[in-house]
Order: sequence, then C-alpha cells, then structure tokens
Amino acid sequence: MRFDLTGKKALVTGASSGIGQRMAECLAEAGATVVASARRADRLEQTVDRIQAAGGQAMSVVMDVSDVESIRQGIDTADKELGGLDILVNNAGILVDKPVLKTTPEDFDRAFATNVRGMFFASQAFAERAIAAKRGGSIVNVGSLGAWKPTRGLSVYGASKAAVHQLTKVFAQEWGRKGIRVNCIHPGYIHTEINDELIRSPTGKQLTQMLLRKRIGTPKDLDGALLLFASDAGDYLTGASLDADDGQSLTF
Ligand SMILES: NC(=O)c1ccc[n+]([C@@H]2O[C@H](COP(=O)([O-])OP(=O)(O)OC[C@H]3O[C@@H](n4cnc5c(N)ncnc54)[C@H](OP(=O)(O)O)[C@@H]3O)[C@@H](O)[C@H]2O)c1
Repeated sequence: MRFDLTGKKALVTGASSGIGQRMAECLAEAGATVVASARRADRLEQTVDRIQAAGGQAMSVVMDVSDVESIRQGIDTADKELGGLDILVNNAGILVDKPVLKTTPEDFDRAFATNVRGMFFASQAFAERAIAAKRGGSIVNVGSLGAWKPTRGLSVYGASKAAVHQLTKVFAQEWGRKGIRVNCIHPGYIHTEINDELIRSPTGKQLTQMLLRKRIGTPKDLDGALLLFASDAGDYLTGASLDADDGQSLTF
C-alpha cells in the first residue's frame, strides 16, 4: 500500500497539541517511527504515550522553533537517535488575531519567528542532513487558508502563512533534484486550543452555521492530506498546496 510508512522516520513540530499531536499519531498509525517535538515536555510525553499505547513507535524531543540553535540540536538528536529522518512536518505555529492598528512589533516578530523562521530553519536542517546522506525525503508544511484569503484581524498571521506557501515552492525547486519533496496543507477551521475560544463563542457558532456542512473540522480530518504528501502515494507531488477545508473557503 503506497500510503504505508513502515520503516520511515518522521519528526513533527508542534506535536504537543491539536493538529500536530494528531499528525504524529497518524504517521505512527501508518507505520512510521515518530519524533514528537515542541516546547512543553509534559505534553509531548502525552503524545508519545498515546502513540505507544496504540502500538506505535515514538520519542519526544523538546525544541523551540523560534530558536535556531534549539532547532538544530533537536533535528540532530532525532537524526542521530533514529539513524536519519525521512519526513519533516512543519506544523508548529501561533495565531496573532488583532487589527492592524493594534498589532505591536513584538506580535509581528513572534508570529514570523515561529511560523516562518521556524519552518525555514527546520527545513534547512532536515535537508542538509538528507542531502548529505543521499536519502531524499518529504517535507509537509502546515499553512492556512489565511495564506491566500485576506481576513480582518489576521494580517500578520496571514502574511506569515503566505510566506510558508511561497517557501514551500522554493524549497521544492532547490531540493527537487535531491529527491526531497516539499508540499503544503492549508487547513480550514479545525477545533484546537488555538481557536477554542472563538469556536465556542456566539460568533463561532454563527460561523459554523454558514459552512457547507455546518461543521468545524477536527485534527483527524487532515489525515488524508498528510498521508498523501508524506508517503509514496504523493511521489508525483512537490511544490503543491492543498486547501484541506471541507469547502469552507467557498462559503465566506
Ligand atoms: N486550528 C486551525 O483552525 C488551523 C487552521 C489553519 C492552520 N492552522 C495551523 O496549524 C498549526 C497547528 O495549530 P493548532 O490548531 O494545532 O494549534 P495548537 O493546538 O495551539 O498547537 C500549536 C502547536 O505549536 C507549538 N508551538 C508553538 N510555538 C512553538 C515554538 N516556538 N516552538 C515549538 N513549538 C511551538 C505548540 O507547542 P508548545 O506550546 O508545547 O511549544 C503546539 O503544539 C499551526 O501552524 C496553525 O497556524 C490551524
């Protein structure tokens, strides 16, 4: 089965909650050995426990993607421990939801340090090692519909995800001949800690009613897109971006 990841080794950033936690579980269910990474060690242990309880293989590496040294150390540890990584999922991200006039330089820098600089240098560290080992690999980036759809309050967040969209294509160009595929998933609304307050609010309930299937996604709804890009089933895909949004972007 071409979606099978048996024997593959994957590192997922932001695997301590929400989408990243599910992506780590999903890759493990498909047979990969997974490295769950993020800043909160206790929450990473929960991810590892869930994977192991389901019969999968996983370890955790504490890594702050806003700190390039921490990224390099984290990827190094994972690479050495497992004898080389095949898959990198750049999922760690933060939301800045503020009107332009209220946005501070600190908000701007925080969003770009995590959402853009983090995925940039994690990808660089992954690709350096994969190219040196002549191994190839697959990088899956987590963008957002905000990358292409202007949304009030999400100026900095959207711009950071537009950068992720663009970098996906440039990485794919630069590393295609080395056998590294790079693709991007743009999720629609997925109920996680990042948007829990909004989804539960009256505005969130109104928004849900507007959607084609009147439902907000769950992290599991991204399994198909992830496995397509991460596995050999996506062998002909690189530099691609997929809106995985249940048609949400068609309704607003
Ligand atoms: N939920 C949605 O509707 C939605 C839609 C489109 C795109 N996305 C994107 O999906 C990704 C995951 O978001 P989510 O919804 O799952 O939110 P979440 O539950 O808040 O998860 C965010 C994850 O990112 C990690 N993280 C944040 N800053 C980090 C840093 N400096 N270094 C390492 N890890 C860091 C967090 O872990 P620690 O705090 O432990 O470090 C956490 O595991 C984000 O990139 C987000 O932009 C989400």
